[in-house]
Amino acid sequence: MENGHAGKHRVAVIGSGNWGSVASRLLASNTAKLPSFHDEVRMWVFEETLPTGEKLSESINQAHENCKYLPGIKLGTNVIADPDLESAVKDADMLVFVTPHQFVEGICKKLVGKLRPGVEAISLIKGMEVKMEGPCMISKLITDTLGINCCVLMGANIANEIAVEKFSEATIGYREDKEAANRWAKLFTTPYFLVAIVEDIEGVELCGTLKNVVAIAAGLVDGLDMGNNTKAAIMRIGLREMRAFSKLLFPSVRDNTFFESCGVADLITTCLGGRNRRVAEAFARNGGKRSFDELEAEMLHGQKLQGVSTAREVYEVLTYHGWQELFPLLSTVHEICIGQLPPTSIVEYSEHTPNLSFVGGSTPCY
Ligand SMILES: NC(=O)c1ccc[n+]([C@@H]2O[C@H](COP(=O)([O-])OP(=O)(O)OC[C@H]3O[C@@H](n4cnc5c(N)ncnc54)[C@H](O)[C@@H]3O)[C@@H](O)[C@H]2O)c1
Repeated sequence: MENGHAGKHRVAVIGSGNWGSVASRLLASNTAKLPSFHDEVRMWVFEETLPTGEKLSESINQAHENCKYLPGIKLGTNVIADPDLESAVKDADMLVFVTPHQFVEGICKKLVGKLRPGVEAISLIKGMEVKMEGPCMISKLITDTLGINCCVLMGANIANEIAVEKFSEATIGYREDKEAANRWAKLFTTPYFLVAIVEDIEGVELCGTLKNVVAIAAGLVDGLDMGNNTKAAIMRIGLREMRAFSKLLFPSVRDNTFFESCGVADLITTCLGGRNRRVAEAFARNGGKRSFDELEAEMLHGQKLQGVSTAREVYEVLTYHGWQELFPLLSTVHEICIGQLPPTSIVEYSEHTPNLSFVGGSTPCY
């Protein structure tokens, strides 16, 4: 891989939402210290006009703070907001993708032919694209569209907690190129953010993607005041379905990946504290009468829910393969989200007896 100017790598971050801003802050604290990286981190901003009339990118560059998506946290003077996608990436040889997943394809198309040779990418994005020919993970979409190697970073990483430097861990998933994975790990690791690498890109990415669907289920359980045992049961059933679904789609997925930060740890934090859980709780408290779109707009102020769209995408894959009966939790979440089932259905499994023994799961006898 070629280095940037003066033999140093140059980092650009594509995305400036809640996690995009926190990731930029974390990376900029490292690029300022590490001799093999150029200090400056360019952050592409999807431009918005703030209620004050000011542009978001100008406000970030003036205050060194993203007042919309990460208020109250200084990003570092070496984070430079850039509303022009092409200009943000033109000198970079290390690209960090961190937008809501529904925007990635459009962004990648705009970047075709605009990148430096030898560019490496990493995706922090949770979600998948479902195409006629089957599901496409976001890292593969980036690789296929831009012809570049792309790792993934997932983990128990609620952005607002990392913003104030509370200790957490993350997992980098890679395919073959261990050297690239180690370079990304070096760039992301801080004393409060420990990163491990795993040669199982699909396993890591599917963990990060599917846990958002389980978090919707956990939020429904909270909204129905069902208590801790029920929530633990939902998390266990969810984890089992996550593993079975991942292994059916990609037989190379490893069991051990589910014990990394991207697996069980991310599932726990998202089911306890994430935005998918919070909005699903409100959905259940309203008896399913207010839509997820309405609650997202009201509760998240421009931030995006990933669990509802991922549940739909997973459901499309399940329907295509005729697998719904095998995945009662994943299927039920989607059917509740679209109003086909009431929120209380989230705990009605007794009529289902999925046999997951062929992908390493027990056969329940309920
Ligand atoms: N926030 C977290 O705690 C967290 C943690 C880990 C991973 N993630 C993942 O990171 C990814 C990005 O999430 P986030 O929290 O940074 O974003 P966010 O939900 O906070 O913000 C939404 C972002 O989308 C941008 N946007 C809106 N319309 C757009 C368009 N048409 N084209 C391009 N961008 C547009 C907005 O400007 C904003 O930057 C998601 O895949 C999410 O699942 C988030």
